[in-house]
Amino acid sequence: MNTLNLLGAAAALTLLAGCTAAPEAPVATAAPAQAKQAFVDNLLHRMTLDEKIGQLRLISIGGGMTRERLADEIAAGRIGGIFNSVTPADNRPLQDAAVSRSRLHIPLFFAYDVIHGHRTVFPIGLGLASSWDMQAIARSGRVSAIEASADGLDMVFAPMVDITRDPRWGRTSEGFGEDPHLVSEIARTLVDALQGESTSAADSVMASVKHFALYGAVEGGRDYNVVDMSPMRMYQDYLPPYRAAVEAGAGGVMVALNSINGVPASANRWLLQDLLRDDWGFDGVAISDHGAISELIKHGVARDGREAARLAIEAGIDMSMADALYLQELPGLVASGDVAEATIDAAVRRVLGLKYDLGLFADPYLRIGKAADDPADINAESRLHRQAAREVARTSLVLLENRNRTLPLDRHATIALVGPLADAPIDMMGSWSAAGVAGQSVTLREGLQQAMDGKGTLLHARGANITDDAHMVDYLNFLNWDRPEVKQDPRPAEVMIAEAVAAAKRADVIVAAVGESRGMSHESSSRTRLTIPDSQRKLLEALKKTGKPLVLVLMNGRPLALTWAQQNADAMLETWFSGTEGGHAIADVLFGDYNPSGKLPISFPRSVGQIPTYYNHLRVGRPFVEGKPGNYTSQYFEEPNGPLYPFGYGLSYTDFSLSPVRLSQRTLPRDGTLEASVTLRNTGTRAGATVVQLYIRDESASVIRPVKELKDFRKVHLEPGASTVVRFEIDRNDLNFFDAQLRRVAEPGEFSVQIGLDSEAVRHASFKLL
Ligand code: BGC
Repeated sequence: MNTLNLLGAAAALTLLAGCTAAPEAPVATAAPAQAKQAFVDNLLHRMTLDEKIGQLRLISIGGGMTRERLADEIAAGRIGGIFNSVTPADNRPLQDAAVSRSRLHIPLFFAYDVIHGHRTVFPIGLGLASSWDMQAIARSGRVSAIEASADGLDMVFAPMVDITRDPRWGRTSEGFGEDPHLVSEIARTLVDALQGESTSAADSVMASVKHFALYGAVEGGRDYNVVDMSPMRMYQDYLPPYRAAVEAGAGGVMVALNSINGVPASANRWLLQDLLRDDWGFDGVAISDHGAISELIKHGVARDGREAARLAIEAGIDMSMADALYLQELPGLVASGDVAEATIDAAVRRVLGLKYDLGLFADPYLRIGKAADDPADINAESRLHRQAAREVARTSLVLLENRNRTLPLDRHATIALVGPLADAPIDMMGSWSAAGVAGQSVTLREGLQQAMDGKGTLLHARGANITDDAHMVDYLNFLNWDRPEVKQDPRPAEVMIAEAVAAAKRADVIVAAVGESRGMSHESSSRTRLTIPDSQRKLLEALKKTGKPLVLVLMNGRPLALTWAQQNADAMLETWFSGTEGGHAIADVLFGDYNPSGKLPISFPRSVGQIPTYYNHLRVGRPFVEGKPGNYTSQYFEEPNGPLYPFGYGLSYTDFSLSPVRLSQRTLPRDGTLEASVTLRNTGTRAGATVVQLYIRDESASVIRPVKELKDFRKVHLEPGASTVVRFEIDRNDLNFFDAQLRRVAEPGEFSVQIGLDSEAVRHASFKLL
């Protein structure tokens, strides 16, 4: 947290004066950090134990309390922050209760899950990551902050930077993929964008990075399952993105629901104290995930609520989300001496510090604003940022196949648009888009219709339901949402398929929008299969038989096993869940108004059995060698090895070539730098962008190193025929790794530099670190 607000302190002191003994004013000349500390200390000094404990409670609207009851609790000083209350008009009375009715007038902060946009929905995390475009990602973050703060929100539970290498996990959709470097870059970018130049600015929100830590590595991809991981892997691969967010100044950290090597994160002193605070220097607020403190009992590390509360506060959880255990148990624990009051004080200091940094003591209504300025319609079109959403969404689309240049399409053609996701406004938004309004999202059907503008003919037939499995539909409709959102077309599957086939026969080309409903890639939506559900697969097989060109527009929140599609589709565009303007963005790409430039941030396996399929795996003693089948190498024998689509992969409507890698020298002095460069040329006929990726491989070290690791990348736009030299500077930091003693070292020896347009098709060179 770098934002300190002297003025805020002075104003807050005025606000607080007169309640009890007037606090001493901080010295006007004090440095900002000292002013903040003086302010917080002063306030803390005047709080009762109950008031302190009240500040540690984060409560959800809709958690069983009426708003009136909630206001009374706030007035009694028993709540420090609120989440899931999302409009200025709703938040104002609650802030009134805090500021006017509570004894010390300490303002509340308001938090919400703003994961990929707020009123305007941007592509899901995997989509944003597919852009490899930090400006686009920053834009999504800035718009999110502007919209969230305009709704009276102060903190967002984002970014979600859990490294995910098991696509069975439903929350893969929220994260940014499998690579520590890429995810760390995005973590930094989003924290900066959300928090803006100053966290006390009215249009900034505090980022609360999650889920600390390693939530993406739950065993078997089954949500809430245990994580058991070697320290080396943790430090090397899974922890860097959280650390990047902390170093960028994230004011909050949300603690993960999983256990780590036998200790739940929520009771994990090593994680929250030794690593996060002592080693990384985090001085913000650690917040539990929903109900996680009481879950310590189910984990089997606490006998009862009292022990759970003690474990959590002593481990370093400052605020408890959505359970009453701190409120109920901490007073008794302090009275009996089982928890030192100093432990409570430390947590409260951080919560007050957060509010201070948010500028809330200076103006508790900084983001809520005045009633007179409340939007008449919270969902008004004028509150959306459609252009940003469309431009960002275009960068997130990944062209997986394009045989015979099937794409781009001719807008004068007759197009048969089929599939359960062709006209699915809710699904366009993806999960975790609660402030988004489905009616405001542009579906693929609408996007194509508008882009064709009467020039060609768009035929539409649903063709299939998302799934015919009634049990699955029940499950999806039971998930978080207020109303059932997977609606089944009651017609028999054969009738729907026949209708789609009839449309296909009349058309020049088929566009089939298939994949998952948004709820299939969500919290608690782990899957055992990664294939396109059978109902849709049958539709695709029938369409294929028409012999018409088949374009698949995939919508899904995780890598799918696409072997059939890869063999049978003429073109395939991965669109993830692309948000409010998704339909327009996809149409822009399908008609060639935008040349696709997305690259996969996660490997696509051929089958579930291959998982995990991440590119940067450790080396083994008997590696599989492509083209040399045989016994006794590390492989699966009944299907091809390696991913179907590798990390970093994505096509364009133009072609690019890369020159061999040039190195400025063959040796790298320990404190020097070395330049690796390639010439990138657009050899095709259209302007377009691609991502030049730099990988490094440590040929021999004291511990096993991965086959390669992404270290840098550039997104480059080139006119047809144009070329440019892309230069990367390499220094010792790029060669660092954690050794067996978890020391960060770069060991002398041979390194291979690999530059490519995906992680597999690379050009090599090598150098020595002295
Ligand atoms: C999720 C978090 C989320 C929280 C509050 C939990 O179930 O794991 O990611 O921020 O709910 O909505």
